[in-house]
Amino acid sequence: MKEPINVLILAAGLGTRMKSEQAKVLHPLGGRPIIAHMVRTAAQLDPEKIFVVVGHQAEKVERAARAALEGPAAERLRFVRQAEQRGSGHAVMSAREALKEARGVLLVINGDAPLVRAETLRRLVEEHQRGHYAETLITTRIENPPAYGRIVRDERNDLARIVEEKDATDAERKITEVNPGFYCFEIAALLPALDKLTTRNAQGEYYITDVPELLRREGRKVGTLFHADSDELLGINTRAELAESWKRLRREILDRHMASGVTIVDPDSTYIDDEVQIGQDTVIHPQVIIEGRSRIGRDCEIHSWSHLTNVEIGDGCKVQNCCVMVDSKLTGQNSIGPFAHLRMQAELAEEAVVGNFVEVKKSKLGRRTKSMHLTYLGDATLGDRVNIGAGTVTCNYDGKNKHPTFIEDDVKIGSDTMLVAPVRVGRGSVSGAGSVITKDVPPDSLVAGVPAQIKKRLKE
Ligand code: UD1
Ligand code: CA
Repeated sequence: MKEPINVLILAAGLGTRMKSEQAKVLHPLGGRPIIAHMVRTAAQLDPEKIFVVVGHQAEKVERAARAALEGPAAERLRFVRQAEQRGSGHAVMSAREALKEARGVLLVINGDAPLVRAETLRRLVEEHQRGHYAETLITTRIENPPAYGRIVRDERNDLARIVEEKDATDAERKITEVNPGFYCFEIAALLPALDKLTTRNAQGEYYITDVPELLRREGRKVGTLFHADSDELLGINTRAELAESWKRLRREILDRHMASGVTIVDPDSTYIDDEVQIGQDTVIHPQVIIEGRSRIGRDCEIHSWSHLTNVEIGDGCKVQNCCVMVDSKLTGQNSIGPFAHLRMQAELAEEAVVGNFVEVKKSKLGRRTKSMHLTYLGDATLGDRVNIGAGTVTCNYDGKNKHPTFIEDDVKIGSDTMLVAPVRVGRGSVSGAGSVITKDVPPDSLVAGVPAQIKKRLKE
């Protein structure tokens, strides 16, 4: 019978070596905090429960962990407080009460290794069950390992103990087989071993890495699973390791998109967050950054030096060079840029076009509406087939409040028109170049001047 799996993620540490005000596991990697990667990977194992040991910035870490999971997986999350951070062994001790209700095997994993694959953890559990071990842990090989625990083997080549870098002799420091921080336990064997941990070591901490030696003293067997790909197991302790991990994750994300039919012209200079979705036959040119929960449709072209964050882009859109787009939407068959800036729920209906040096803030443009040059549209609602001349500004801010502008279907706004909000331009009207529109314009009127006056009715 397959035993249920429980996962315990150690995430209470301060992360001193990051030199940060922010807890280490909250630092983002590919658009998600490190802890989010950890709980998502754990959830892939279909565990009974996922326990997360939190301490430093506990509320924030809990929130980030919860936000990473949806549906039934989220209900399996449990948080355990470790009030004082007295070592990885102490972190597991803090979960003692919670673990009493857990059945089956317990995976204990460091909370700072976001690249580990669920598949690797599954193999660890399998090896654990196959060998009927009290504990099984992953080992890997790193030449000149940084602050990793070293694997000391006995004359039969079985694991004898783990020695932490700071407690190691010079000879032990030369060992290249190391402990990356993934352990599988028989819960009944772990709990009594925790009682025997001491702080008699260089750091004065309770080490989870002392458990194997204790178990062996009781005559229990400890297994190891060698995993050659040490990069996948990398624990993030420093900003440099954070950057290393991002490099690897970034490549995995790009490979995934290329495999599903997206052209990435230059993977070395393209930055796409983990949650971004991109449709088939879309082309991403060099030096593009796409962040957050962005969704991009099929047959789009995203040109160089564009930076898109939380955007929704429909099929067949063209984002030309150097555009910045945040929390905004292109519905489909749109073109923006070069040098366009869309932000705060800017939204273009089908085939609307925004050209160079146009900023669109919290505004909607209707179908086939165009604003091609040097324009600010803020808090504005534009109908269909509107044309906005170069240099137009919606003057939406009176120094205290923001006011809306409405431009109805088929309006033509002449170059350098100022629309002093709140104001409405009726359907089919035209403004002359340089107009300053301070009052509502009725439909089908030609207005011009400062302030703008009705010069002519366009329809009788
Ligand atoms: C640990 C291992 C080391 C291993 C390395 C791999 C120990 C004693 N050493 O060292 O053998 O090679 O990971 O990356 O475990 N944590 C808590 N509460 C605490 C202390 C730590 O929850 O009181 C958490 C941290 O948030 C972190 C994890 O435990 O996610 C590991 O702690 P860290 O301080 O990074 O251990 P290392 O020194 O890297
Ligand atoms: Ca670590």
